[in-house]
Amino acid sequence: MKPIAIHDNVFWCGMLHPELKIFDDLMPTTNGTSYNSYFVRGSEKCAVIDTAKHIFQESYLSGLQLITPLEDIDYIVVNHAEPDHSGSLRALADAVPNATILCSKPCSMFIEALSNRPYNLKVVGEGDTVDLGGKTLRFIMAPLLHWPDTMFTYCEEDRLLFSCDAFGSHFCAPMLFNDLCVDYGRDFRVYYDVIMKPFAAKVVEAIHKIEGLHIDMICPSHGPILRRDPWNAVRLYKEWSSPQVTVEGKTVSILYFSAHGCTKKMADALAEGVRAGGAACDVVHITEQDSESLFHALARADGVLWGSSTINRDAPPPIWSALGYAGLCKGKPTAVFGSYGWSGEAKKYIEGRLEAVGAKMQDSGLRVNLSPSDEDLDACRAFGSAFAKGL
Ligand code: FEO
Repeated sequence: MKPIAIHDNVFWCGMLHPELKIFDDLMPTTNGTSYNSYFVRGSEKCAVIDTAKHIFQESYLSGLQLITPLEDIDYIVVNHAEPDHSGSLRALADAVPNATILCSKPCSMFIEALSNRPYNLKVVGEGDTVDLGGKTLRFIMAPLLHWPDTMFTYCEEDRLLFSCDAFGSHFCAPMLFNDLCVDYGRDFRVYYDVIMKPFAAKVVEAIHKIEGLHIDMICPSHGPILRRDPWNAVRLYKEWSSPQVTVEGKTVSILYFSAHGCTKKMADALAEGVRAGGAACDVVHITEQDSESLFHALARADGVLWGSSTINRDAPPPIWSALGYAGLCKGKPTAVFGSYGWSGEAKKYIEGRLEAVGAKMQDSGLRVNLSPSDEDLDACRAFGSAFAKGL
């Protein structure tokens, strides 16, 4: 796709990836993604902001040359080192060896480690500026959105915020702007839940830094450019990242494996308790769902309950497969339950895995020998209710 002017002397020069099904071999996408790169031309100097994934580097450089001779590029701003944005950096830097790379200190270490070479770079910090001639780029540190290196770049005169991964979405929009594409709100929320929610406190810190700015357009590194009501995205991020004081609106996901139906009975009783406690509840039978459904159930959950039978003194393979997404439980209230026959190790093994990824573990005490009794199911309901109220 050819570069497109998005403002006076500001161009989108990124790459579309509509056929992508799974981002980073981890995150399912419903409509591909884009790698948004931008070119800013001042009266004296020019800057590129982020590049594109490595597999596109030839077409990326070809597109860029439709806007400018590469030798006219003075700066390459790297808002974040992750390879979906820096994958074409080496090729671009080789093409314009005199260009100065501008990035945060952590980013400088990451890009050199990714490329195994030094760069002609200058580390920038909070509030530093670069004057391109009528276009001033100001750098705003946004660490842990979602890597330690992340920063925003703000073009003062044009009121454009280049926000890197923040406010983005894995949603390929050939028309580029949010006012020209179909509703992608679900993808916008899933992206937040998976990538930003683990760093909610950092999201709030970054929003404090931009709330006083005049912003006419937010230009993220993935998905549509927010030309229509960019502040709505900021409001949503702030709302989603702020601690909720009520259970209402929160969701518990119960994921379970049940060899003989006993653990399922516990899951159903827990779900009754969760709903009685005021939270919504998704009950997911692991072996009946595809990995995408498991992923989304964990991504959208505010709390997670894992249930498993014990098979051959271990949790069974479908549980270990689902635990491949255990990182999505980081920071979330989480507990484990299950029925067993003659040993019962699954609960402690699953708890160990979840503890290792930083889940906020709560001991359910719900480990039942074979078929749960009425008293056991009452205990499940009570635990589910208390779990929901404690979210
Ligand atoms: Fe889109 Fe964190 O890279």
